[in-house]
Amino acid sequence: MKKLVILISGRGSNMEAIIRAQIPGAEVSAVIANRPDAEGLAFAVDQGIVTQVVDHKAYPSREAFDAALADAIDAHRPDLVVLAGFMRVLTDAFVTRYAGRLLNIHPSLLPSFPGLHTHRKALEAGVRVHGATVHFVTPTLDCGPVVIQAAVPVLPGDDEAALARRVLEQEHRIYPQAVRWFVDGRLTLTDGRVLVQGERAQPGGWT
Ligand code: GAR
Repeated sequence: MKKLVILISGRGSNMEAIIRAQIPGAEVSAVIANRPDAEGLAFAVDQGIVTQVVDHKAYPSREAFDAALADAIDAHRPDLVVLAGFMRVLTDAFVTRYAGRLLNIHPSLLPSFPGLHTHRKALEAGVRVHGATVHFVTPTLDCGPVVIQAAVPVLPGDDEAALARRVLEQEHRIYPQAVRWFVDGRLTLTDGRVLVQGERAQPGGWT
């Protein structure tokens, strides 16, 4: 059984999609939030999953928060740490500690539109295709090796909310897929390169 720890900051719909996927061979050991009012905690509690809050406001520095967060995570001895709408910039020490077993989902087709407000940026840039990316986390924000991406059209009349909805639907599809690959031992990061075994035609996970 592969153990997962999922980190959230808010709504937690990606966490929910991963839990609902009931991935064979995977067990969600804990859901940890950096905000006591993260809405997604209620779903995890309902599912009987251990939840914990490590409130970033209680720590004097990013380093101190990340150290406390790592202690909370390591208590569960996870095989994989899943950032699911976890809205904190992580220190290099934290990221390095979980190298090759730390995944994130970002609401754009990276490397386009890193950071916040991705849907607004996509609309402002006038792109015709937008989407979401699951990637391994490396010290540079939103720059880690891509595991899987899903594209959606930008339609005439779209506003941020409409585009966000269309992208989120894809997020809920590709994140459980990436986790399933990892749990099956098919997804690895070697020398900074992603390998998905058994994906013959689409090695990068284009869907
Ligand atoms: C998702 O759209 C996720 O891609 C994004 O926050 C949202 C969280 O929703 N993450 C980032 O922007 C990370 N930089 P959720 O809490 O319902 O999963």
